Amino acid sequence: MSTHNLSRDHFPNDFKWGVATSSFQIEGAHDSDGKGPSIWDTFCDIDGKIADASNGHVACEHYRRWPQDVELIHGLGVNAYRFSISWPRVQPDGQGPWNEAGFAFYDQLIAALEQRGIEVHLTLNHWDLPQALQDLGGWANRDLCGHFTRYATEVARRFGHRLQSICTHNEPWVIAILGYEQGIFAPGIQSRSQAMQAVHHLLLSHGMALQAMRGLGVKAAMGIVLNLSPIYPASDDPKDLAKAHLDDGLILRWYMDALYKGSYPQDVIDHLGEDAPHVMPGDLNTIAQVNDFLGVNYYTRNFSSSGNPWDVASTGNEVTDMGWEVYPQGLTELLCRLHADYQPQRLWVTENGAAFKDQWVDGVVADPQRLAYIRDHIAATHAALKQGVPVGAYFAWSLMDNFEWASGYAKRFGLVHVDFETQKRTLKQSALWYRNFLSGQ
Ligand code: FCB
Repeated sequence: MSTHNLSRDHFPNDFKWGVATSSFQIEGAHDSDGKGPSIWDTFCDIDGKIADASNGHVACEHYRRWPQDVELIHGLGVNAYRFSISWPRVQPDGQGPWNEAGFAFYDQLIAALEQRGIEVHLTLNHWDLPQALQDLGGWANRDLCGHFTRYATEVARRFGHRLQSICTHNEPWVIAILGYEQGIFAPGIQSRSQAMQAVHHLLLSHGMALQAMRGLGVKAAMGIVLNLSPIYPASDDPKDLAKAHLDDGLILRWYMDALYKGSYPQDVIDHLGEDAPHVMPGDLNTIAQVNDFLGVNYYTRNFSSSGNPWDVASTGNEVTDMGWEVYPQGLTELLCRLHADYQPQRLWVTENGAAFKDQWVDGVVADPQRLAYIRDHIAATHAALKQGVPVGAYFAWSLMDNFEWASGYAKRFGLVHVDFETQKRTLKQSALWYRNFLSGQ
């Protein structure tokens, strides 16, 4: 079916249509009402780490403007909203006392969404770890599994019955590899062994949190969100094929094997050698809890080359402002492969979107490239559904322009344009298209 002819009616009635955000990227109010510092507050203060030397102090001022933002979400006609809780807002030190003012903020937000019939999809850890826990070694310290489990349990106890889903971690690969190995994201460490230990603790804490939260009997679906890309060899050269297999092991099989098979792939363990994580007896059984859903964040595909770095221009395809190739078929292939190899009960596309250089001109933001990107990836999701993959949700990243981590405010992913001087929100044409699509026009 041409992507232009696709309509909402081609999807199941209970399909979830949403937009996504995360706490640090939109909230601002970095030290209001008892919030403690997160590792991203600290990281932004280091010279040269953020492209435009910005930080999350104000961001989209969502902490104050949330009623208007809920109206925006509602106005799009989505039936689901994915956001995250800032752990240091509700527990400033990551252990010890709870901050009631922080919980009150999320309580109001959830209530406003409920009133409008919008499903609430909550992420516990979208990267803004309390700095006090980083001071203990961050995710490389096994003690964090216990601290995270207590935080998760408290959130589930308070809100679990009002949530459609709870995701433990957003993209453990990014947290650990970009944060602890490459050092380009918070906390800015460069150690492969710490990174792999962090990966293991993130996965372990996922399993522990699921066990504890399920013990409360809350109705929310529970799972995890991974950043996954299909990896292609740059050529038929056996060295490129081997590299692609290893890279797939590092980014996909490591996580999926652990979560769905209760084991780490041996070829990757061998490759890591001394940097392989220390795993205690029983850990992998704990990690391999049943997930009610697997969240997939998809933006692009990757190529592996044993020689010179791969040049994205050689694909001839369009490239976004992040330098990422636009390749919707990759989403269909990825969803089909996950279904074939691991059979998750339900797959949700929890993030998908694109940054382009948008211009606000007399109240209009024409973004035909983003519109086409979203449209074609919705079609790619539909193609997987047609092939029998149990895909149940599509969340566009993002509701609005926001703090794009190390890129600062320069990269705009929003369906809604934000003027960061005035905080004025303007629906881009992609948002108008999504709204029309959802209303059946
Ligand atoms: C993902 C993150 C999200 C956003 C997009 C562009 O890796 O989960 O917060 O930054 O990339």
